[in-house]
Amino acid sequence: MGRTHSNAYLRLNNFFPVEHRAVLKAICDSDAAKANKFVEVWGYERAETDWQKLVEAPDIDLIDICVPNVAHRDIAVAAARNGKMVMCEKPLAMSVAEAQEMVAAVEKAGVPNMVSFNYRRVPAVALARQLVEEGRIGRPFHYRATYLQDWTISPDVPQGGDALWRLDLRVAGSGVTGDLLAHSIDTAMWLNGAITRVVAKTETFIKERMHQLSGKLEAVGIDDACMFLAEFANGSMGTFESTRYARGRKNYNSFELNGADGSLYFDLEEPEYLQFFEYQQLQSGKKTESHLTGWRKIHTTNAEHPYMKHYWVPGATIGYEHTFLNALADFVAGIESGKPAQPDFRNALETQKVCDAVLESARAGRWVETGVEL
Ligand SMILES: NC(=O)c1ccc[n+]([C@@H]2O[C@H](COP(=O)([O-])OP(=O)(O)OC[C@H]3O[C@@H](n4cnc5c(N)ncnc54)[C@H](O)[C@@H]3O)[C@@H](O)[C@H]2O)c1
Repeated sequence: MGRTHSNAYLRLNNFFPVEHRAVLKAICDSDAAKANKFVEVWGYERAETDWQKLVEAPDIDLIDICVPNVAHRDIAVAAARNGKMVMCEKPLAMSVAEAQEMVAAVEKAGVPNMVSFNYRRVPAVALARQLVEEGRIGRPFHYRATYLQDWTISPDVPQGGDALWRLDLRVAGSGVTGDLLAHSIDTAMWLNGAITRVVAKTETFIKERMHQLSGKLEAVGIDDACMFLAEFANGSMGTFESTRYARGRKNYNSFELNGADGSLYFDLEEPEYLQFFEYQQLQSGKKTESHLTGWRKIHTTNAEHPYMKHYWVPGATIGYEHTFLNALADFVAGIESGKPAQPDFRNALETQKVCDAVLESARAGRWVETGVEL
């Protein structure tokens, strides 16, 4: 993520008319070789290996947290105490308790803050939100989300350490729930409002894996797969499914929303498209042309589509990296306008509440109230 964020800081003023300019002061990585490489490739002024130095540095205004989940809380709280703006990768924290500490720290310090739920910034997903706001879906009945990958199927994949910390419960906090479903939950609540209660089932298919750091076979504590049912405050029902065992699926992040007046469908494997079904009521004196009804596949590359006027001509697509650029542009514009961009820490805390409720439900085998306040 250090690369996607660095790219966004470098490109910000090339594409967005914000007043402020990012200056890449320092990159911190506990691995000095990686930090030095970043200085060389991305043009940072200096490298650090101790984040404490970074959060105290007087020449730094913003700390951007792109390290494994276990370190988010300490860095964010220290950064806020030092009066720095804080950008944090998702999931915000390892637990609701940690997330609450982080919210308290940024709010006490009064520093701008944001969490990198970047999929909100895919133009097609932002268009979905616009269509919901325009009332085109009508009363919502169903929300269906899937987030599927396939990279941990082999029992020979180790856990822990460099690149594989996601399989180590102590560093990741959870498996697919915090890593993948956090994205799905953030998008779902952005489009369809609060999730009030959940019932979940998780599975750990491979029970033991070699730990890269200890060199020993150790029990696997993360959820390899998770499915849950949800109730939304607006009365609609949700189903969510995530796994890293869906052979052939690399980053299949999809959702469908079905309402009385229309439906929406999005799939990150075809990110420039939003699919929309519009149910047209019989107008008085007008015939419905039912032989023409069907799903519309909207290629979201017109200047009228969210973010696209900042890029190319209609038909020319943007990519994954632009979601981080769009997010940064919103963050900076939010500071300049005084209307903070979302999701900030407080908003991301609500997603954390759903993640914790899902894991608790899977352990207890019963419905759990989320306590979400939106
Ligand atoms: N928004 C998204 O779509 C998205 C995608 C991938 C990852 N993420 C999130 O970004 C974060 C980082 O994930 P990643 O895939 O970039 O991980 P990564 O393992 O590729 O990179 C993490 C880097 O942090 C360094 N590091 C670890 N602990 C450190 C510490 N205490 N101090 C300084 N450096 C430290 C590591 O050496 C490594 O270079 C995670 O929270 C993850 O959930 C978000």
